[in-house]
Amino acid sequence: MSQTKPTILVSGGAGYIGSHAVQALQNAGYDVVILDNLVYGHRDIVENVLKVEMIVGDTSDRSLLDKIFATHKIAAVMHFAAYIFVGESVKDPKKYYNNNVVGTLTLLEAMLAASVKKFVFSSTAAIYGEPQTSPIPEDHPKNPINPYGASKRMLEQILADFEVAYDFKSVCFRYFNAAGAHPNGLTGEDHNPETHLIPLVLFAALGKRDSISIFGIDYDTPDGTCIRDYIHVCDLADAHVLGLEYLLNGGDSDIFNLGNGNGFSVREVIETVKEVTGREFKVEERDRRPGDAPILVGSSEKARRVLGWYPKYPEVKEIIAHAWQWHQKRHDE
Ligand SMILES: NC(=O)c1ccc[n+]([C@@H]2O[C@H](COP(=O)([O-])OP(=O)(O)OC[C@H]3O[C@@H](n4cnc5c(N)ncnc54)[C@H](O)[C@@H]3O)[C@@H](O)[C@H]2O)c1
Repeated sequence: MSQTKPTILVSGGAGYIGSHAVQALQNAGYDVVILDNLVYGHRDIVENVLKVEMIVGDTSDRSLLDKIFATHKIAAVMHFAAYIFVGESVKDPKKYYNNNVVGTLTLLEAMLAASVKKFVFSSTAAIYGEPQTSPIPEDHPKNPINPYGASKRMLEQILADFEVAYDFKSVCFRYFNAAGAHPNGLTGEDHNPETHLIPLVLFAALGKRDSISIFGIDYDTPDGTCIRDYIHVCDLADAHVLGLEYLLNGGDSDIFNLGNGNGFSVREVIETVKEVTGREFKVEERDRRPGDAPILVGSSEKARRVLGWYPKYPEVKEIIAHAWQWHQKRHDE
């Protein structure tokens, strides 16, 4: 006899990673309700691709949240809603602490009031700060170097305290660089402004930018450029379903890195974009930027061991090929 799976509230479900998590939840048989204020989310993706109920509103709107929990039988919340721009967080920290910390705290209070006590949280590798080891394990020291990373670190602390005081269970995923697009070609990365390397290089291939810059070619890495850990957005989404099911099955709160485990250099990304797209574009070599670590690669051994998660798309070529398919389509629209 088939059993109906519970309903999951996905905050930020109209955004990049959230929209892929919604598809992974749908594939796994869950009902989904999205809460998104559409400051950065995409209504067209929700209406034309995801086709789930979306409540347009803010995580800081307590009366709206109370109404959502009163009218929907929510079993757990996946929380993607946040502001994500590191540079902006340095210039305007109050915006980040308000949205990411106060907004989330309001959501957590509404959950407690409704006795919904399972929470999957988008944390970030930015909470580690300067890496002292590579690959970075979960118990690496946490010294975020910007308000964005600090806002996520504060939430991890809040969630740890909530478990002790209220028996509130959470899974925190510390992502490295989310990248790629759904192989179905219908959803992908669409940030505005875009600050991530792979889409920026693809914009150069599309002629939407004149050139792409490499900041620093004299790092202590095999080709002298910085190395980063890119994780396919669908692999992230699958991990969220596993994290959710871990909680629904009675798991205790825990924290997991989500990375590919393989680093790719800036130059490798650029060369792979040229190979995948068959296009040439101008590459400019510039000075190092302050604060860029030479190598940022995470160990996801714990997620594999505890959740049985493994990345299906570990190759940067495939990640870029999926992103290219999406950006070509988005560019033509
Ligand atoms: N993209 C990455 O590489 C990356 C890396 C580490 C962590 N993360 C985290 O993953 C999450 C999702 O990131 P993304 O890249 O999909 O960003 P995104 O901007 O595409 O998605 C965030 C969504 O949340 C919505 N939102 C923001 N604040 C809200 C609020 N107060 N109430 C309701 N909706 C709100 C936005 O409109 C948007 O649709 C974020 O929490 C981010 O910090 C992302």
